[in-house]
Amino acid sequence: MIDENKLNALLGKVVGDVGATMSAALVVVGDKLGLYRALAASGPMTPAELAKRTETHERYVREWLNAQAASGYIAYDKATTKFHLEPEQAMAFADDTSPASVPGLFHVACAMWHGEEKIARNFKTGEGTAWGEQHSCLFEGTERFFRAGYIGNLMSAWLPALDGVTAKLQAGAKVADVGCGLGASTILMAKAFPQSVFFGFDSHPKSIEIANQRARDAGVGERVKFAVAKSTDFPGTEYDLVAHFDCLHDMEDPVGAAKHVRRTIAKDGTWMIVEPFAGDNPEDNHNPVGRVFYSASTMLCVPHSLSHHGPALGAQAGEARLKNVVVEGGFAKFRRATQTPFNLILEARP
Ligand SMILES: C[S@@+](CC[C@H](N)C(=O)[O-])C[C@H]1O[C@@H](n2cnc3c(N)ncnc32)[C@H](O)[C@@H]1O
Repeated sequence: MIDENKLNALLGKVVGDVGATMSAALVVVGDKLGLYRALAASGPMTPAELAKRTETHERYVREWLNAQAASGYIAYDKATTKFHLEPEQAMAFADDTSPASVPGLFHVACAMWHGEEKIARNFKTGEGTAWGEQHSCLFEGTERFFRAGYIGNLMSAWLPALDGVTAKLQAGAKVADVGCGLGASTILMAKAFPQSVFFGFDSHPKSIEIANQRARDAGVGERVKFAVAKSTDFPGTEYDLVAHFDCLHDMEDPVGAAKHVRRTIAKDGTWMIVEPFAGDNPEDNHNPVGRVFYSASTMLCVPHSLSHHGPALGAQAGEARLKNVVVEGGFAKFRRATQTPFNLILEARP
């Protein structure tokens, strides 16, 4: 028997979800064309004014603005027929330096759609898709989304939660950022700790090329070196801090990565593992945040690990499974240093 109330509630939820899915492409369009930023900079505008300012066509801009207003991403004043961004909307959509910046996440969603055919094939064959084989919007999208979390938490909460690490970084430490992607975390730390030197490693050459450019642009190129290397063979020894930001679960050989950290870390060094927040049981993660992470994991993280015949821990690996990796890697101490609704911050020491 169909329960009509249940069916209506389900369909109501689907309308909201489909609207969100479809409007994701519009967020990417608005972000690329500078529509949010122009609106934030000039205050209330008609579609014609925004089109003129951004050198776009009014008919498209009008339709886009109405979709944004329907999404609740842009405000509309019917008395003046102008659109504007409320301060919170500007913080989320028009400011890349804000800890609440969201466009990156929509670029990641865009990469997931681009990869859909490949990933559907993988379901049948069991094969994988490497990170570097995904659509190019993934790399910058990931950087921008995670950077917002690092801006909001890394210096103020995560590093201080690790035993003695901030003091070492202030005095001058040697740091490896493994699986650094475009180097957002590396560069933020380099700016905050001018006495320290930083090495970023990633197996994706294009990401490393961009990261080196980003370091030069940020004026920290002297103290920050990015190089193509795998988590199991990156060079250097005696690192005071090794960090894996949102990447250990992606790796084809997480235990091999842990063993390599153990080989390269200083005797009293610290391994910081930042991972997506997750409980140990699947049902702990059947919630809105788990939905985001399980979805990204299906399309991006699991395919990357499987592309190298890895164990595919997945983005919802959870603390217990990660602890096993750390212990198998030869670390004696392990604890949850802190957490946010989106991240677990784990500390391992020799
Ligand atoms: C989800 S992204 C995170 C990037 C970056 N840490 C950040 O927070 O923006 C995962 C990164 O891990 C890298 N990666 C995956 N497996 C790797 C491996 N075995 N060795 C080095 N890098 C790896 C990918 O190329 C990708 O840049």
